[in-house]
Amino acid sequence: MLELLNILVLHGPNLNLLGQREPGVYGSATLDDINQLLEQEAQTLQVKISIQQSNHEGVLVDAIHSMLGQHQGLLINAGAYTHTSVAIRDAIGAVSVPAVEVHLSNIYRREPFRHHSFIAAVAIGQISGFGADSYRLGLQALVHHLKYS
Ligand code: DQA
Repeated sequence: MLELLNILVLHGPNLNLLGQREPGVYGSATLDDINQLLEQEAQTLQVKISIQQSNHEGVLVDAIHSMLGQHQGLLINAGAYTHTSVAIRDAIGAVSVPAVEVHLSNIYRREPFRHHSFIAAVAIGQISGFGADSYRLGLQALVHHLKYS
């Protein structure tokens, strides 16, 4: 039997508050809504996903390390750590697993400090600005990359 691709989905800090957190910027979908959307898309794409959220940089680093031998791709919204974390960037570089970076908001239309991403240099690509749909599009792009390139 063919093994299904296994994707790790990581949500960074404050994303547990989606739905109530600045809905004008991030929309009204909760993290559970987004996770359900991803589970549905994973079924359609015939891949397995594991989902984790943490507000702690080290926990996210550990989760990325634990991908080795377990997961073939990473879908990540590192939240504010996108703009600050060399450690998360290095962890992705270290495991050398294809990663897609996603953001609900368009980080380039916001404050200048959000315009730089440490993750972008180690990601195969980035999807930013489509609300909850950024995750769905990101999963599609990642699976497409894993299957066909
Ligand atoms: C975010 C954008 C970041 O700048 C911010 O710190 C977040 C969410 C997004 O999904 O739009 O927490 O990653």
